Amino acid sequence: MTGALVVAIDGPAGSGKSTVARAVAARLGLSVLDTGSMYRAVTALALRAGLDPHDADKVSILARDADLVVGDRVTSLDVDLTAELRSDGVNEAVSVVAAHPGVRAALVERQRAWVTTHGGGVVEGRDIGSVVFPHAAVKVFLTASDAERARRRADDEHPDSVARRDRLDEGRVASPLRPATDAHVLDTTGRAVDDVVDEILAWL
Ligand code: DC
Repeated sequence: MTGALVVAIDGPAGSGKSTVARAVAARLGLSVLDTGSMYRAVTALALRAGLDPHDADKVSILARDADLVVGDRVTSLDVDLTAELRSDGVNEAVSVVAAHPGVRAALVERQRAWVTTHGGGVVEGRDIGSVVFPHAAVKVFLTASDAERARRRADDEHPDSVARRDRLDEGRVASPLRPATDAHVLDTTGRAVDDVVDEILAWL
């Protein structure tokens, strides 16, 4: 991936990551990778297999070995998991799954391989600038007020569930949700998407 352009976009749930990442990718003609959907897909597969999400060994092996295709839709062995990714069961278990170092190691490897295959891209998540691509061309850490984040997620998930996930994601030992020291921290509260995208592109 030497020389490939990587834009890292991190932040908590409801900070505007997915919308901004897609818009930045469209403006730059790059592909976009939603790494949260990878953690969600592993969680969905673990639940399907009847695994306990706390079972670090079994879930990590699953994350390493599962057939997983992540794009507009997320599939495993031609089973379309897209609708399941936002289910209550996945919302509830994904932070437990994402806290296992073995799961993180397996998915970080897949994320780096994805960028190599795609010749760069816009990658959104929680640890992209801090861990996965520490040499990304631009690192952005999006935030928004609690009220705005709750409002943006309201269609998808109950505010208590989002707050619980944020707490677990921030408090975990392996790659806790934190801005990279050299990330641009950008508050998207009340701002238009195009305006945020213009600001990010000016950092390139
Ligand atoms: O972005 P999202 O809400 O779809 O992410 C789902 C969960 O996955 C989130 O609660 C934390 C985890 N996650 C992570 O630990 N690291 C990433 N790079 C992306 C997501």
